[in-house]
Amino acid sequence: MLILKTREEVVDFVQSIRSKGLTLGFVPTMGALHQGHLTLIKKSIEENQYTLCSIFVNPTQFNNPDDLQKYPRTETEDIKKLEITGCDAVYFPSIDDIYPEGPVSENIYLNGLDKVMEGTFRPGHFQGVATVVKRLFLQIQPTHAYFGEKDFQQLQIIRTLVDAEKLPVKIVGIPIVRETDGLAMSSRNMRLEPEFRNNAAIIYLSLKKAEELAENSSPNEIISKVEKIYSESKLELEYFIIAEEDTLLPAVNFEEGKSYRAFVSAYAKDVRLIDNLQLK
Ligand code: PAJ
Repeated sequence: MLILKTREEVVDFVQSIRSKGLTLGFVPTMGALHQGHLTLIKKSIEENQYTLCSIFVNPTQFNNPDDLQKYPRTETEDIKKLEITGCDAVYFPSIDDIYPEGPVSENIYLNGLDKVMEGTFRPGHFQGVATVVKRLFLQIQPTHAYFGEKDFQQLQIIRTLVDAEKLPVKIVGIPIVRETDGLAMSSRNMRLEPEFRNNAAIIYLSLKKAEELAENSSPNEIISKVEKIYSESKLELEYFIIAEEDTLLPAVNFEEGKSYRAFVSAYAKDVRLIDNLQLK
């Protein structure tokens, strides 16, 4: 596997692939790789002639400097995992490779999708995500790019970015990879104390409950029933929202022909966990 450390190296690598008319799948990550990330890599390998993964802890998407500092950095293990999975190249950009004028977000048109749900609790977060992904796309010129439904709002924001900026890349969404008890895999899970780790399974249970209730109940009825599950647990619910998949706006009723998803954010002590599930 090639290890690319500069923008020039990545541009050369990409040029050699694209000049032959071959497909290039791209998986952007922040490292601390787990099976969720590796599932995206495997899908890209399956669908493309070459696969490139980037590892970059993007400063502009962190609203809390402490979070940025504490973000796990496991470069050696990440390289091993990518090699075993069969990835062709990994790119570790420097801050300068992405932000030659300093780490500041652009103001990117996201059709308001950055202002709801996660956007209300993490102001500026999605402008940071959109900025880094746009710049990586421009450097890497992938034919395909892979994103997890774990961050469903992020996935929809990237789709909006690609449409608005007319970027020639196909965005592929990948279902959430879960632990055996249903907890969505996340680099944050390793920070959970055992007592909270057990309790965290409630998140998936609450989503499954919402899916079951969606057969006969309105979004508001579902939310009030699900909120009870949290009040009887050790988790502190930040939000439980049922929204339409395209607009991400809260649903009042379930309308025929539209798709809906339940979205949750909850704290297990000081660890913030998010998850979501398609309802109907
Ligand atoms: P990161 O959190 O490292 O995630 C990289 C990709 O892996 C994202 O598309 C995310 O949705 C996906 N992913 C994480 N856990 C997953 C799981 N359990 N199942 C399926 N997919 C999963 O998301 C980011 O990095 C950053 O915001 C980034 C897009 C790289 C921009 O900086």
